[in-house]
Amino acid sequence: MRTVLPFNHDWLFYPGEADAGEPDAQFQVVTLPHTNIVLPHHNFDNIEYQFISTYRKRFRLPEARDGRRVYVDFDGAMIACEVFLNGHKVGENEGGYTPFSFDLTDHLNENGDNLLTVRLDSTERPDIPPYGGVVDYLTFGGIYRDVRLRYVEPCHIEKVFVRTLDVLTGRPRVEIEVTVNNQGTELYAQELGASIYDADGMLIASGDMWVQVPAHSTEIFVLTGFNLPAVKLWSLDAPALYSAMFWLGSAAQTGEKPLRFGFREAVFRDDGFYLNGEKIKLRGLNRHQTYPYIGAAAPARLQRKDADIIKYELGCNIVRTSHYPQSPHFLDRCDEIGLLVFEEIPGWQHIGDQDWQGISLRDVQAMIERDRNHPSIVLWGVRINESMDNEAFYTATNALAHRLDPTRQTGGVRYFQGSQFLEDVFTFNDFSNTVQEPEHTPHLVTEFNGHMFPTKSWDQEERQLEHALRHARIQDKAAGMGNVTGAIGWCAFDYNTHREFGSGDRICYHGVSDIFRLPKFAAYFYESQLDPAVRPVLRPATFWTMGDRSEGGINPLVIFSNCDEVEVFFGDAHFGRFQPDRKEFPHLPHPPFQIWGLNLLWGGHKFDDLRVVGYVNGQAVIEQQIEADGVPRALVLEADDAELNADGADMTRLVFKIVDKYGNRLPYTNQVVSFEVEGPAELIGENPFALMGGQAALYVKAGREPGTVTVRAATPRLPAAAVTINVK
Ligand code: GAL
Repeated sequence: MRTVLPFNHDWLFYPGEADAGEPDAQFQVVTLPHTNIVLPHHNFDNIEYQFISTYRKRFRLPEARDGRRVYVDFDGAMIACEVFLNGHKVGENEGGYTPFSFDLTDHLNENGDNLLTVRLDSTERPDIPPYGGVVDYLTFGGIYRDVRLRYVEPCHIEKVFVRTLDVLTGRPRVEIEVTVNNQGTELYAQELGASIYDADGMLIASGDMWVQVPAHSTEIFVLTGFNLPAVKLWSLDAPALYSAMFWLGSAAQTGEKPLRFGFREAVFRDDGFYLNGEKIKLRGLNRHQTYPYIGAAAPARLQRKDADIIKYELGCNIVRTSHYPQSPHFLDRCDEIGLLVFEEIPGWQHIGDQDWQGISLRDVQAMIERDRNHPSIVLWGVRINESMDNEAFYTATNALAHRLDPTRQTGGVRYFQGSQFLEDVFTFNDFSNTVQEPEHTPHLVTEFNGHMFPTKSWDQEERQLEHALRHARIQDKAAGMGNVTGAIGWCAFDYNTHREFGSGDRICYHGVSDIFRLPKFAAYFYESQLDPAVRPVLRPATFWTMGDRSEGGINPLVIFSNCDEVEVFFGDAHFGRFQPDRKEFPHLPHPPFQIWGLNLLWGGHKFDDLRVVGYVNGQAVIEQQIEADGVPRALVLEADDAELNADGADMTRLVFKIVDKYGNRLPYTNQVVSFEVEGPAELIGENPFALMGGQAALYVKAGREPGTVTVRAATPRLPAAAVTINVK
């Protein structure tokens, strides 16, 4: 039997190098995922998380070994570590973005106490990707992903790759490549089998074969001959997920959860990207995995929420995991909701020596072996983002990717067109402020905008509007070019960075949303590309003031919407009914509305509230209002989730805003908001918080006791606000 148990609880953390004699009392009890330091969301130094720390985990085996091997599996620890069990070194790892495992068996105290010690180096080690040069993002420190304990038979399944083939024919096939590791001292001869379940959990096919694995060796087998019925495809609108369970001899091999996969055909061709034979224009954003305060140590719920935001709030159909493999929880959610993924290896512009490249090749392998069963992933990035050409290195990364996964194409992100084309898809960062004519196809724009137009959520309206329109213009251009498969903008969320980049406060304000994942106008542009059948969107891109733009007034009034028509009122006065601007944006599914001639001038008119009504098929479906007064009317406090798990790690975002009477944020209030929490939870973030952009967020982190949590927020001159969260 395989058993997989969570191993996130009751770790001890010491923010320095502790030798074995250091008493536990010097350590802090922590739950994983863990950041080695909680920081403000900006205005800190990017060296503050760079230190060596020590983690301890004291444990007794939670269940009897019964002759099995016991492994510890780390999903990720930043950036290098050595791991010891009961004083014996069991392994080391270099690289912070891919998983690693160590066999503990030989040094286990089976019936007594054990001590696992991790010496974690979170400094910017130049010998490990992405470091060696400067990097425009922070890597932060800590055992920042999950850890598990895994029991396996001496002969066990090590890796599985489910390949779905001929999915668009009437006779879909499955081939399952299984790597079996025999750590035993005798030849292992038994049956290897797999069962396949459909999206409703019904068994639909099984297959098995006789396998023989010599002692102390690893063999790869391919299970075929599954007799499949018609299958449901994995698509953007209906992402059907199948699953598989495995056995070897009489031992179940699946462990904690069945392996999920999907039937879909994804291919980049010269004239476009095709999913299940249908051409889909890719519209996406890049995502960094870091969060305010907690670095990269975000639990499953926050990881999953990011996928939801990108699909449902930003209307994207693809995300690029710039610039490294991201959390399994994030990718799981992409599978579940139908969000395509371009995943790439760690790195940024710099290529190191042979040893460094060796680690990078290991990253290629670890990324693909970890993630090749995710139907959402449609492209592997096997170049160091924006590095110079290196024929030998990139020939090797491409060959390795193709060998490990013949079903997916490769890309490699570069910023110059003349770059040597060794991949299947020419993935190109195009900062020309337009979309350049491709020199190679298939062609995918993997970044644009970003540092060309950093924009804060409290910048002047004109700048925030231009930021949004730049995204709209490029997405429109890409949508109209038959030889461009799509465009992925830089980037979804503002992110923390080194002093060499960003606005000096350690933030790159390149997001269409702020670092808290709250929208700027550019986010409204993306949101407006959603199908109105999903949800009508109506977002006037204005703070509705008479004197914020240069020369005053609001001309044009730009509205991001997926409605067919909008009707505009000032107070009770009807101004007109308008169509989207198909002239300037002929290719977008839902062009912005640009309404000129409002004739509202600086100081020149009786100035009243804005009211906009959106129509789909002639029916009024949505309305928005913005108050002319600009006076703070309410402090709004909202948690993303009403319930948390009492596991000591679960978190939800707590958004707060100061708003007008219709709920619109007032971007220039910088009132101080202070918080109090009651119940089994902790607040993570700056408290009190001096508001910027009229919106920000903290996190509520569950403790390990169930109960009701109440958070209260207060700010001068407005009624206090409160939310309640149930910790279960
Ligand atoms: C690119 C780079 C990104 C980010 C972006 C800012 O060159 O790949 O990581 O730095 O610029 O616009």
